[in-house]
Amino acid sequence: MKAALLVLLLLSCSETVVPTRVFPALSHLKPQKGDDVQTAAVRELLARLLGGRASEFSVTVNSSLAEGGRDTYRLSSGAGGTVLVVGSSGVAAASGCYTYLKAFCGAHLSWSGAQLQLPPALPPVPAPLTRSAPHRFHYYQNVCTSSYSFVWWDWARWEKEIDWMALSGINMPLAFTGQEAIWYKVYLSLGLNESEIFDFFTGPAFLAWGRMGNIHTWGGPLSISWMEKRLSLQLQITERMRSLGMITVLPAFAGHIPEGILRVFPKVTVSRLGGWSNFNCTYSCSYLLDPEDPLFQWIGELFLSQMVQSFGTDHIYSADTFNEMSPTSSDPGYLSAVSGAIFKSMAKVDPDAIWLMQGWLFINNPSFWQPAQTKALLHGAPIGRIIVLDLFAETVPVYLTTESFYGQPFIWCMLNNFGGNHGLFGNIEGVNRGPFDAAKFPNSTMVGTGLTPEGIEQNDMIYEFMNEIGWSSQPINLTKWISNYSDRRYGQSNTDARMAWQILLRSVYNCTQILHNHNHSPLVRRPSLNMNTDICYNKADIYEAWRFMHNASFALGKSATFLYDLVDITREAVQQLVSEYYLEIKEAYGKKSLQQLMTAGGVLVYDLLPELDSLLSSQPGFLLGSWLKAAKSMASTPAEAALYDMNARNQITLWGPTGNILDYANKQYGGLVQDYYTERWGLFVWFLVQSLNKGEHFNQDKFNKAVFVLEEDFVYNGKEYMASPTGDTLEIANKIYLKYQPYARKRFLRRNKGLELNL
Ligand SMILES: *[C@@H]1O[C@H](CO)[C@@H](O)[C@H](O)[C@H]1NC(C)=O
Ligand SMILES: *[C@@H]1O[C@H](CO)[C@@H](O)[C@H](O)[C@H]1NC(C)=O
Ligand SMILES: *[C@@H]1O[C@H](CO)[C@@H](O)[C@H](O)[C@H]1NC(C)=O
Ligand SMILES: *[C@@H]1O[C@H](CO)[C@@H](O)[C@H](O)[C@H]1NC(C)=O
Ligand SMILES: *[C@@H]1O[C@H](CO)[C@@H](O)[C@H](O)[C@H]1NC(C)=O
Ligand SMILES: *[C@@H]1O[C@H](CO)[C@@H](O)[C@H](O)[C@H]1NC(C)=O
Ligand SMILES: *[C@@H]1O[C@H](CO)[C@@H](O)[C@H](O)[C@H]1NC(C)=O
Ligand SMILES: *[C@@H]1O[C@H](CO)[C@@H](O)[C@H](O)[C@H]1NC(C)=O
Repeated sequence: MKAALLVLLLLSCSETVVPTRVFPALSHLKPQKGDDVQTAAVRELLARLLGGRASEFSVTVNSSLAEGGRDTYRLSSGAGGTVLVVGSSGVAAASGCYTYLKAFCGAHLSWSGAQLQLPPALPPVPAPLTRSAPHRFHYYQNVCTSSYSFVWWDWARWEKEIDWMALSGINMPLAFTGQEAIWYKVYLSLGLNESEIFDFFTGPAFLAWGRMGNIHTWGGPLSISWMEKRLSLQLQITERMRSLGMITVLPAFAGHIPEGILRVFPKVTVSRLGGWSNFNCTYSCSYLLDPEDPLFQWIGELFLSQMVQSFGTDHIYSADTFNEMSPTSSDPGYLSAVSGAIFKSMAKVDPDAIWLMQGWLFINNPSFWQPAQTKALLHGAPIGRIIVLDLFAETVPVYLTTESFYGQPFIWCMLNNFGGNHGLFGNIEGVNRGPFDAAKFPNSTMVGTGLTPEGIEQNDMIYEFMNEIGWSSQPINLTKWISNYSDRRYGQSNTDARMAWQILLRSVYNCTQILHNHNHSPLVRRPSLNMNTDICYNKADIYEAWRFMHNASFALGKSATFLYDLVDITREAVQQLVSEYYLEIKEAYGKKSLQQLMTAGGVLVYDLLPELDSLLSSQPGFLLGSWLKAAKSMASTPAEAALYDMNARNQITLWGPTGNILDYANKQYGGLVQDYYTERWGLFVWFLVQSLNKGEHFNQDKFNKAVFVLEEDFVYNGKEYMASPTGDTLEIANKIYLKYQPYARKRFLRRNKGLELNL
C-alpha cells in the first residue's frame, strides 16, 4: 500500500517534463568511460556506502537508456529480493540507488552524517519505475568552494564527496585541484624564475582568488611539495569522477599573469587592474594580458594542452576574466574580441571545447554589464559553445534580464551560501519555483540545474532539496517533503522534530532578501555601536523551533544527525540571543546605566558565549581544531605547517593582512567562539564601561586598533585546539536551553506586545 503510494509519488514526476532546447554543439558532453567501467564504479560506491548490504542491489549502467541524452534510471525488483538498478550513466545509476534508499528505506545522506539503517529485507519495487532528469546537466561547485571548503581535503574526504555527488545526481563538477603545478611548469618554460612564480601564487587558503586575478602573494608561498601532492590528488579525483560518468570541468587561462611576464616579454600589452576588496597593490592589482596580444594565445594553449595532457579532458573548461573586476573598456567590439580570444585559445587546443562561464559578473557589476556589453561578451563565441552559470538564480536570476543569455545555454544554479558561514538560511520558495520558471521562459536556453555554494557543510536540507529539484519536473510539496526529511534524517518519525522543521521552513528557509545568506550576526562581526541585527523572519520562530528540538532530544538523542541539528539550531537561537544582549548593551550605554551594561555584558561574555563554545566543542562538525588539523596535515615541514595554520585561521577571520575582508568567511566553531569572538566582545564591553566611567564617548577607531591586536594574535599564536569533540552535547544543550529560553521569551515578548506566542 505504502510502497504503491510512493511509486505514484515518484511517477507523477515524469509526466510534465518541459522539453529542453537542444544544443547540437553540446552533444559530445557525455560520459567518456564505457558502461562496464561505470558499472564497476557504482558497485564499488555502493559497497563503500552500504557494506555487505550492497550485494542486495544489482546495478548496471547501460548508456542506451538515456532519454534525449538526459540521465535516466530504472528501478525494479529482481530475483531473491534484490533491487535492480539500471542507469544510463554511473551518476544516473547511483542517483537511482539513492532515490530507492530514500523512498523505500527512509534513508538519508548528508555532509553532517548519514542515516542508513535499512530494513532487514529490502522492500520490493512494486512495478518497474523509470525516471529521466528533465535537463542534461547537474552542475556542482563555485570557484570559491575550492578554498572555503576543499582546501585541506585529502583523498578520503574527496572520495566521500564524489560519492555524495553521484548519489545526488550531479554529473558536472569542477575539477580545479592541482592546477598550480601546471602553471608552475608553464611559467618556468616561458622563462620566469622561481621567485617570480612563487611570488605570484597565494597561499593554499586563498588560491581561488589568486586564480581569478583578485590577489597574488598573500598567504604564500606554495611549496613544490604542496603542488605535487595536489597534482596526484587531481589525478585521483578526475579518474574517479569520470569512472562514475561525470563530465569534469577543467580550468583554462583567463588572462591573469605574474608580473614576471613583463620582464620576459617587455613588449607585451597588459592592463593593470585596480585593488580588489580593500587590498592595495601589495597583494592585488593583477596584470591582465590583453586577449588580443599573441602571447595570450600562446599561454592559453600552453596551459590548456598541459592540463589536458596531464588529466585528460571532457571538453569543457572554466575561465572567468572579469570576476569582480571591470574591463578597461566597455566598447562592445572590445568585449567580443576578449571573449573571442579566450574561446579561441581553448578551441585551438581542443576543437570540441565548451567554455563554462560564471554569470557572477553580471550580478556584481550590473551598471557596467548593460545589454550591449553582456551580449557582446556572450556572442564572442558561437552559440552553444559557452555555457553560462546563472550563479545566484534563486535570488537574482540573470536569464530574465538578458533574454536567456542572448541565446547561449545556461545552468540555473542555487548559490545559497557565502563564505561557508554557519547560519541557517534558504530561499526555499525561490528554489522550488525558479528552475521551472526558467525552463518555461520564452525561448529559454536552460540546459541544467546546479549548486554553487561558496562554502559547504551547513544547511544540509536545502542542498538535498535542490538536488531533488534538479531531477524533478515540477515543484515539490514543501510541507510533505520537510516532514519526510525529518523522518529520514533521524531514522524515525517524531512529531516534535517535524514541527521544528516546519517552523524552520517558514522562517530561516523562507528568506528572499538578498545578502541575508551572508551571516552578519553581531556574534560573528567586529563589535560597534552600529551593528546590523536585521533578520529576514520572525525571530520567535527560532525560539519555537528550539523548543521543539529540545523536546525531541529525549526521543532522538541517540541519532548523530539529530545531535548535529540540535547543536545547529541551538547555535542559531544563541546567535539571536547575542543580538538581544547587544541591543541591551547598546541601550544601557545610551542611558549611561553602568549596572545594566555590566549585567548584560557580563552574561554575554562570561556565560552565553562560553556556553556556546562548549556546545560547539561537543560535536565533530563544529571544531576549529579539525579545520586546523586538516591544514597542518597537508604540510611537509614545520614551517609549512605554521604557514598553513596561519592560512586556515586568517581565511575565517581577518581575510587578508589587515582585516581586508574582515569576517567574511566567519564560522561558528568551538575554539573560535571562545578565543576570537568572545575576546573581542569582552574588549568591547570593557571599552564601553571605561567610557561611561570616564564620561567620554566610545571611540570606534581606538577600539578597532585595540581589537585588531587581539584578532591578529589569534591568527598567529599557533595555539592548539582539540580535533575531537569533548563534553556531552545533550547535557550542554539542555543546560543552555533551561538557562536562556526564559530570557528569550521575556525579551521577545517585551518588544512584541500583544503577539500571541506559545513559547
Ligand atoms: C542496453 O539496453 C538496450 C536497450 O534497452 C538493450 O538492447 C541492450 O541489450 C542493453 N545492453 C546490455 C548490456 O544490457
Ligand atoms: C518518507 O519517510 C519515510 C520514513 O523514513 C519513508 O519510509 C518513506 O519512504 C518516505 N516517503 C517518501 C515519499 O519519500
Ligand atoms: C628572479 O628575477 C627577478 C627579476 O624579476 C630578480 O630580482 C630575482 O633575483 C630573480 N630570482 C632568482 C632566484 O633568480
Ligand atoms: C598596502 O598593504 C600592506 C599590507 O597589507 C601595507 O603594509 C602597505 O603599507 C600598504 N601600502 C600602501 C601604499 O598603502
Ligand atoms: C523566440 O524566438 C523566436 C525565433 O527566434 C522569435 O521570433 C521570438 O520573438 C522569440 N520570443 C521571445 C519572447 O523572445
Ligand atoms: C501539500 O501537502 C499537504 C499535506 O498533504 C496538503 O495539506 C497541502 O495542501 C499540499 N500543498 C500544496 C500546495 O499542494
Ligand atoms: C514563504 O513566505 C511566503 C510569503 O510570505 C508565503 O507565501 C509562503 O507560504 C512561505 N513559504 C513557506 C514554506 O512557509
Ligand atoms: C514533548 O515530547 C513528549 C514526548 O517526547 C510529548 O509527549 C509532548 O507532547 C511534547 N511536548 C511538547 C510541548 O511538545
